[in-house]
Amino acid sequence: MLRLNICFSPIFLLFVYCMKSSSSSAGAAIGVGISKNCPNDHSDLSYFESAPKPCFKNPTTMELIKSLNQTSSTRQQGSSSSSSESDCTVWTKECSEQLLWLAKQPESVKWIKSVRRKIHQNPELAFEEYETSRLIREELEKMEISYRFPLATTGIRAMIGTGGPPFVAIRADMDALPIQEAVEWEYKSKNAGKMHACGHDAHVAMLIGAAKILKAREKYLKGTVILIFQPAEEAGNGAKRMIGDGAIEDVEAIFGLHVSHLHRSGIIGSRPGPLLAGCGFFRATISGKEGQAGNPHHSVDPVLAASAIVISLQNIVSREANPLDCQVVSVTSFNAGEDLDSIPDTVILQGTFRAFSNTSFYQILARINQVITEQARVFRCSATVELFENEDRIYPPTVNEEQMHEHVKKVSIDLLGPQNFMLAEPVMGAEDFSFYNQVIPSAFFFIGIKNETLGSIHTGHSPHFMIDEDILPIGAATHAAIAERYLYDRKL
Ligand SMILES: *[C@@H]1O[C@H](CO)[C@@H](O)[C@H](O)[C@H]1NC(C)=O
Ligand SMILES: *[C@@H]1O[C@H](CO)[C@@H](O)[C@H](O)[C@H]1NC(C)=O
Ligand SMILES: *[C@@H]1O[C@H](CO)[C@@H](O)[C@H](O)[C@H]1NC(C)=O
Repeated sequence: MLRLNICFSPIFLLFVYCMKSSSSSAGAAIGVGISKNCPNDHSDLSYFESAPKPCFKNPTTMELIKSLNQTSSTRQQGSSSSSSESDCTVWTKECSEQLLWLAKQPESVKWIKSVRRKIHQNPELAFEEYETSRLIREELEKMEISYRFPLATTGIRAMIGTGGPPFVAIRADMDALPIQEAVEWEYKSKNAGKMHACGHDAHVAMLIGAAKILKAREKYLKGTVILIFQPAEEAGNGAKRMIGDGAIEDVEAIFGLHVSHLHRSGIIGSRPGPLLAGCGFFRATISGKEGQAGNPHHSVDPVLAASAIVISLQNIVSREANPLDCQVVSVTSFNAGEDLDSIPDTVILQGTFRAFSNTSFYQILARINQVITEQARVFRCSATVELFENEDRIYPPTVNEEQMHEHVKKVSIDLLGPQNFMLAEPVMGAEDFSFYNQVIPSAFFFIGIKNETLGSIHTGHSPHFMIDEDILPIGAATHAAIAERYLYDRKL
């Protein structure tokens, strides 16, 4: 995720416009036409609306305790596939407990931490995740999980379940950052100038942990879980290239998580609607005519034009945007001539913009282009604007589909208890998970890593960033439960 900044204006979320249009374009390429009115049309999601079938065989609490007691004692004898284990034909608390139990086995916890530490020690940058990808594939092979490789250079699409529909995906990103680790600990990065400072090492470990749980429960899966290990989240185009290479072929919903230093260790946090901002960049070249500064009338001054442009760009947010809908336009770089006595030929302006709704995001993008070119003309200059759309340096907002969010919430509460789920504030950081979000219904959520005792209190992209490793099994179980239960609910 791009560096975080909190948007201190949660109220705007009460006015969620039509943020996600036509998600029914599932499977279509990115950039499909937007339908302007989207009255929460979830016709393609009606399976979530059908009420759960009545539990005609709802077990009593005592029966539950008894069978749980039974399964754990048979498991202790080394047989995890005992026939007394609930087959979760009817989803009960016990099914969640079985999942959590699998995640919390001491050997599993040791293994998941060791996977994370190996990756942490050997960080690789975007599209160079060769060893990380190899390690993942080796673990998948040990578990006899089939996969497709390579997608987007180093990416992997693994598969657990019946092999048939419905397909649900869970995703992790693999790339590290060009940062020198400042944390002194046993498993510090061995690659100078590179560090897992955004927790992607933990994301991979939790997804592999989920793979192990799901593999152990494969016979109960009512469809297929697709595990997506993607490269280059930080470069902004890993997800896009994975989609291009078929990562979400046949997949009807996708879930992803991110570690968060804003939440206490082990807390799951999310919200319906916009969670992370859309983020884009621009570079404008304003061209005039060079000349003697003492005789300005012989020149066309791009400095004056660019100055007016900086002011005008500020009006987009202050005058055109709904104040309850958080948006940002910032000019971060202004480069003109060096000579004290002449008016330069050109000025280069650069900057960034953010928004939480897809509509606002693309509106700002269009207006930046328009304001710069038109304002330049007022001063007899010309301007070209580069928005890096082709370099994939545009992340749309991450907007949680309401039903998908409800699913995450329900599963987390069931698994971890209501005290371990919270409604999260939206965050100004951006995620390329939003590219999946543009194609199929999805939800993104946080898992807290903040622990003052350990010192895991630093923001992502800080050289001091560290995580509380005790959350790894929790994240693995949450991933697995979200996927397994999605398939279960889908069949109701
Ligand atoms: C977001 O807006 C763009 C541009 O209008 C459009 O191509 C895209 O489909 C939209 N995405 C969603 C999820 O509505
Ligand atoms: C659970 O199992 C233990 C021993 O295996 C037994 O002593 C105990 O009574 C059982 N509890 C229940 C609720 O069945
Ligand atoms: C923080 O970490 C310490 C040491 O591992 C642990 O004892 C404590 O329970 C953790 N606190 C939270 C809130 O998870």
